[in-house]
Amino acid sequence: MCFFKVKLLSMDDRVEFIDLQAQFRRIEAGVRARTDAVLAHGRFIMGPEIEELEGELARFCGAKHCISCASGTEALIMALTAWGIGPGDAVFVPAFTFFATGEAPALLGATPVIVDIEPAGFSMDPGALAKAVAAVETGDASLYPLPKAARERRLRPRVVIPVDLFGQAADYDDLFPIAAQHSLHMLEDAAQSFGAEYHGRKTCALGCDVAVTSFFPAKPLGCYGDGGALFTEDDATADVLRSIRVHGKGSDKYDNVRIGLNGRMDTLQAAVLLAKLPVFPEELNARQHVAAWYAEQFADIEGVLLPVAQDGQRHVRAQYVIRTSEGKRDALAEYLKTKGIPTNIYYPKPMHMLEAFRGLGYAPEAMPVALAVSRTVLALPFHPYMSESDVARVTGAVREALR
Ligand SMILES: Cc1ncc(COP(=O)(O)O)c(C=O)c1O
Repeated sequence: MCFFKVKLLSMDDRVEFIDLQAQFRRIEAGVRARTDAVLAHGRFIMGPEIEELEGELARFCGAKHCISCASGTEALIMALTAWGIGPGDAVFVPAFTFFATGEAPALLGATPVIVDIEPAGFSMDPGALAKAVAAVETGDASLYPLPKAARERRLRPRVVIPVDLFGQAADYDDLFPIAAQHSLHMLEDAAQSFGAEYHGRKTCALGCDVAVTSFFPAKPLGCYGDGGALFTEDDATADVLRSIRVHGKGSDKYDNVRIGLNGRMDTLQAAVLLAKLPVFPEELNARQHVAAWYAEQFADIEGVLLPVAQDGQRHVRAQYVIRTSEGKRDALAEYLKTKGIPTNIYYPKPMHMLEAFRGLGYAPEAMPVALAVSRTVLALPFHPYMSESDVARVTGAVREALR
């Protein structure tokens, strides 16, 4: 059955959006050996692979502590829980990201305060953050658009969650001073940027109080299900996160000292990640080559903006997101579909326009950059196993579409 499916895919000659099968063919022996070992020892919950993986991940990015967990979303919830975030607290999140970044504080009863992005790298605009914090502190929505709750009563500014969108670190040099000035916790959402670098340092170890990542299968480092991790330099925070991960355990799991959750990563997922780690650095290099081919081949095509790595950044391109001019994006996506080239739109609606956040009471034009970006972005196929000719098929079709 499986053979047949692989055959069919190669016969219709599609360019894969993300090719996990190509990766599996390369690492199959290692994955089978690692997962067989788990099946043999049978410690499916918190087996020895969990601690081994945490050591490897911490070493990889240069963080003191790594706490693995069930998903990137759980990781966000656990970090916010460790700081006691809840009703009356303001958590600053970018207007353009996956919903989980805003969902986690909302689930805990805190208020997401949405901050617009900068157009070059799509991450939180530090100038906008400074204004948003001042607006929350004073309750003055003339300084920056505020959610309804912050207009009605004074919220406590507590946390800022910069997102390393599409695989490139946010503008930390400009964000840190604002967080320090207002005593805000910094929670790096590195769900999309594991393996990226910012001025020579790896994401998840850039100096934020806590960083989180996701091992969702399509991420630069993905497992075969859900998975995530938290990173911190602080011993006490690491202890609290380990406790929260297992129902707020104290000396053992039946000695519950705080409210927590079941946030553990499965041992089998840790085994998969351990099998993937040896090829990960090479895959990161391959991502740079694929991006360079795209840049070369797009050089003579007008009407698209490419995802350029900012100064001092190593962009891992979890998604390869181009921008078109207003009104051109959907026709381009349609044309590429007819040529067997899959695309995706991340994200069709900015955070403040999602139905789930209607209650925040933002007007669409409150976040003008995120709104414009959401109407013009298009993610093209991108993965480390793409060949130069795969890239040429994509860029050739884009050229035809825009002619
Ligand atoms: C920016 C961002 N934050 C958080 C998450 C949540 O991660 P997970 O899917 O592992 O829960 C994602 C996942 O796509 C994400 O892209």
